[in-house]
Amino acid sequence: MRWLILFAIFCALVFGDASNSTDINSGTITTDGTWTAVWTKSADKTSITFNITAQTTGWVGIGFNSVGLMGGADITTSWITNNAVTIFDAYATMEAQPQPDTKSGGSNDVSAVSGSESATSTTVVFTRPMAATDKNDNAIQGKIYVLWAWGTQDGVGDASSPQFPQHERYGSVQINFGTRNNATVVGSSGTSGGQRGTAGKTLTVGWMLIFCLVAGISTM
Ligand SMILES: *[C@@H]1O[C@H](CO)[C@@H](O)[C@H](O)[C@H]1NC(C)=O
Ligand SMILES: *[C@@H]1O[C@H](CO)[C@@H](O)[C@H](O)[C@H]1NC(C)=O
Ligand SMILES: *[C@@H]1O[C@H](CO)[C@@H](O)[C@H](O)[C@H]1NC(C)=O
Repeated sequence: MRWLILFAIFCALVFGDASNSTDINSGTITTDGTWTAVWTKSADKTSITFNITAQTTGWVGIGFNSVGLMGGADITTSWITNNAVTIFDAYATMEAQPQPDTKSGGSNDVSAVSGSESATSTTVVFTRPMAATDKNDNAIQGKIYVLWAWGTQDGVGDASSPQFPQHERYGSVQINFGTRNNATVVGSSGTSGGQRGTAGKTLTVGWMLIFCLVAGISTM
């Protein structure tokens, strides 16, 4: 009986979260300890600011997609060279260097707020619209995948024609930008050339959901 109550509470928490439409304003995305982002929506909820810190002096990136893969992802990449921030709004058609939106009829919809670099880390703060403003953008709404990555070196070229090396570490995590404040990826990272992992949290919740269903059926 006690287990049933615990299951009921757990299931209510899981499903309650999915159905709660409370629109929160900010959150933190923590990955494997090498890449963290703090996001904050504007007061009118039309734009969102990301403050990304990665343990590298090379490039840092963040992407948004309906799946945890690069293909179809709206990706922003940035690096700091001699205190100057290079940042661009790009799109990846596949597992390859994302190309600036401006190269395929889109617009650059991200703007740097600030950027700084230490001997071991890079912090970039940028703002973008919540909505998709051209065909190469994905809206930030509800539950979507955030892709994260960083490389060991800066890129070269400007925002209209950037070139940068492949990521050193990367991963993906599903975030609900409406209801969930914090997300931590456990074991979701990969290194260059490896297989991108799945979010540990999502897997755990998935298993617990199956457990819930089985428990529910077996008590019918
Ligand atoms: C939704 O979340 C808010 C804030 O966490 C909470 O106050 C409210 O009771 C929740 N509503 C439902 C239906 O779960
Ligand atoms: C971004 O995050 C860094 C590290 O947490 C912090 O020092 C900095 O003040 C933040 N910048 C903004 C504009 O929020
Ligand atoms: C989210 O994470 C940040 C940083 O780890 C922490 O300071 C904050 O209290 C967390 N918020 C919630 C609602 O758990």
